[in-house]
Amino acid sequence: MSTKINFTLREQDIPEQWYNLLADFPEPLPPPLHPGTKQPVPAEALLAIFPENLVKQEMCPDRWVPIPEEVRDVYALWRPTPLLRAVRFEKALQTPAHIYYKYEGASPAGSHKPNTAVAQAYFNKVAGTKRLATETGAGQWGSALALGCKLFGLECNVYMVKVSYEQKPYRKMLMHTWGATVHPSPSDQTEYGRKLLKEDPKCPGSLGIAISEAIEDTVKHPDTKYSLGSVLNHVCLHQTVVGQEAIRQMEMAGEEPDAIIGCVGGGSNFAGLSFPFIQKKLKENKKYRIVAVEPTACPSMTKGKLEYDFGDTAETTPLLFMYTLGHKFMPPPIHAGGLRYHGMAPMVSHAAKLGLMEAEAYHQTKIFEAGVLFARSEGIVPAPESAHAIAAVVKQAIEAREAGRKRVILFNLSGHGMLDLGAYEAYLSGKLQDV
Ligand SMILES: Cc1ncc(COP(=O)(O)O)c(C=O)c1O
Repeated sequence: MSTKINFTLREQDIPEQWYNLLADFPEPLPPPLHPGTKQPVPAEALLAIFPENLVKQEMCPDRWVPIPEEVRDVYALWRPTPLLRAVRFEKALQTPAHIYYKYEGASPAGSHKPNTAVAQAYFNKVAGTKRLATETGAGQWGSALALGCKLFGLECNVYMVKVSYEQKPYRKMLMHTWGATVHPSPSDQTEYGRKLLKEDPKCPGSLGIAISEAIEDTVKHPDTKYSLGSVLNHVCLHQTVVGQEAIRQMEMAGEEPDAIIGCVGGGSNFAGLSFPFIQKKLKENKKYRIVAVEPTACPSMTKGKLEYDFGDTAETTPLLFMYTLGHKFMPPPIHAGGLRYHGMAPMVSHAAKLGLMEAEAYHQTKIFEAGVLFARSEGIVPAPESAHAIAAVVKQAIEAREAGRKRVILFNLSGHGMLDLGAYEAYLSGKLQDV
């Protein structure tokens, strides 16, 4: 073989611990606050919606958190995920840059989301939870949690943003296949949903609204807990298997990345790839350029403010210190449904504030252009969310070409786009607009 492109780890190489960046931040992360008292929220206050073991993880100061064997056993269904060098993509871009991607689309749900869904289902099972309630945008998270719940014998109740429920039926079908119940949000299942439907029966819904419904469902049903697919510290923690594997795989490739790139919705896949590299930046003084990529239509990091805000529209969550567009922000209906969230994970926001990383935003026609070029050279059709990272890779690869300089670029291909082909069709037939 002329150039080695596939860097494969073995089952026993699945990480045994998650990495917690909270232990290494040079300044402590501002805590979540109670909206009334503006005082830090005590752990007990979170027990109404989360099990105690996950509340402990959310506030855990330890650098390394052991991954239970039961979770590693399930991870082994698709982990370690591949790391590939995109030589054909490099050629298409005529760049001297070496481009590597960590492929999380290899999971059964087709994205990085099961890394935390499986862990959350496991910890809930151990804590005696019988049923989980959650929200989902376009359905990536909901389908991942449906799978996690099925594997650990829990019921799963999903509030899916109505516009996606109607326009993107396949993820709903996937959730049904894995045994979950799915409601279009706003729904008639909760008081908040009924209120919104009365005001506007055609309300298309948003992630913020669906979160409010899932939380209301949790507090009103016995043996039910709430599960979130991004934003929170323990979700970012669970995703760090991605970066830990990638570090070993880049060593196998004999290269050190100059740039590390991931798309950001709530921030978890980006955190998963980048936090283990940020540790190396802090401890080994590495000079990586770490870039989070978001849609111009929902620019929480590039246009938002760093301040305390609610995580949901109905103002039921604690206040989180994060980059935010405001919890009432209603993002336009772009195709990367998983990136339509008004805020950013507090840990990612803190890393940006400390100058450990930066952010860029791209329009959707640009990201589909990059996604199609990638599909035509590497084969994999990227999820529209992941195509944001690819647009940033293209920019850096072209800069390298123009400067005549080799660069090593690593990005997270967080999911495949096989259930997003309608969006590709809209792009290819010239129907896609920038909003
Ligand atoms: C494929 C894919 N990538 C990225 C994201 C963004 O989520 P997060 O920022 O939490 O990683 C999503 C969200 O649904 C997704 O489905």
